[in-house]
Amino acid sequence: MLSSSPILVTGVAGFIGYSLTLHLLKNGFTVIGIDNLNDYYDVSLKQARLKNLNDFPQFKFYQANISDRAHMQQIWDQHPAIVQIVHLAAQAGVRYSLINPFAYIEANIMGHMVILELARHREGFQHLIYASSSSVYGGNTKLPFSVEDQCDTPVSLYAATKKADELMTQSYAHLYRIPSTGLRFFTVYGPWGRPDMAVFLFTKAIVNDRPIQVFNHGVMKRDFTYIDDIIKGIVGALNNPPSQDTSRPPHKIYNLGNNKSEKLIDFIHLIEGELGKKAILEMLPLQAGDVPESLADIAASEQDLNYSPTTPISQGIPKFIEWYKEYYKV
Ligand SMILES: NC(=O)c1ccc[n+]([C@@H]2O[C@H](COP(=O)([O-])OP(=O)(O)OC[C@H]3O[C@@H](n4cnc5c(N)ncnc54)[C@H](O)[C@@H]3O)[C@@H](O)[C@H]2O)c1
Repeated sequence: MLSSSPILVTGVAGFIGYSLTLHLLKNGFTVIGIDNLNDYYDVSLKQARLKNLNDFPQFKFYQANISDRAHMQQIWDQHPAIVQIVHLAAQAGVRYSLINPFAYIEANIMGHMVILELARHREGFQHLIYASSSSVYGGNTKLPFSVEDQCDTPVSLYAATKKADELMTQSYAHLYRIPSTGLRFFTVYGPWGRPDMAVFLFTKAIVNDRPIQVFNHGVMKRDFTYIDDIIKGIVGALNNPPSQDTSRPPHKIYNLGNNKSEKLIDFIHLIEGELGKKAILEMLPLQAGDVPESLADIAASEQDLNYSPTTPISQGIPKFIEWYKEYYKV
């Protein structure tokens, strides 16, 4: 059960980390946040998110790199009451992993290892929740993607590091019985979203009369998931740590998707409608590292986490566009 002790959130200045932390703070929880504020995308957006979080007295922020063992240990030792971690810091993005592979090894492999070790040595540690990704399904063709499916065919290094995180966590849950939950997020969008992702890129391009690069000629399909639904899923996971009462390692993995696959082109039409402006489309083939379709089987998440996404893109897109216009003063 979600306890009232402080929660460590890594990647707190990121899209999902920020949105989760805001929700937790509004509900009276104490959050210790970590982020290295790297410049993978506009740092001022990360700082603007942090500014909102700093309004809450029960929020404390440390600028630190999760792969820096000594610094992380120092912070950890200052907060002996932390027994829950939501680990969201990572080098995200599929395409950038073709350009800067070592960033993924440092943040997603070394960084994840550091978090596992902190949890291992904390007396009374209760629950580690960490971000995995729908990209671990890689070359799988059976839809919807189920957590029961084997996924050994990553098509990007990003996916391989996320799958490695799941395996490393499994070994630690087996060895040290650390209660752990891995969440495979499916294309998250919404206010305060990530500038490198489709909805953001498309909106920016249409606003600035620039062409949109539409990969796989627009027939690409994605299970787009609205941020508020994702936050409910993470809170559901916090409330339902895996059982310690079995001989199996206390480690569970869940899909957090919307359970509805949308054509990219329909998504673009919705953005055009909201902006009242036509997009200039540049049709391109499927990009290396990308998968043509994603769709989440969320049966286990519904059953164990009370997860139930309620936001179709027809409601989520207008909310994103409203935020975008206000934030960027369009
Ligand atoms: N947004 C999505 O659609 C999506 C889909 C699947 C998985 N995920 C995963 O969810 C998590 C959160 O994603 P997001 O969309 O909020 O991304 P994000 O890039 O907005 O947030 C990640 C945050 O982590 C920080 N960070 C990166 N490396 C770090 C390091 N070494 N030390 C400390 N901080 C570091 C970044 O500065 C950033 O603020 C990530 O693990 C990502 O891989 C996201």
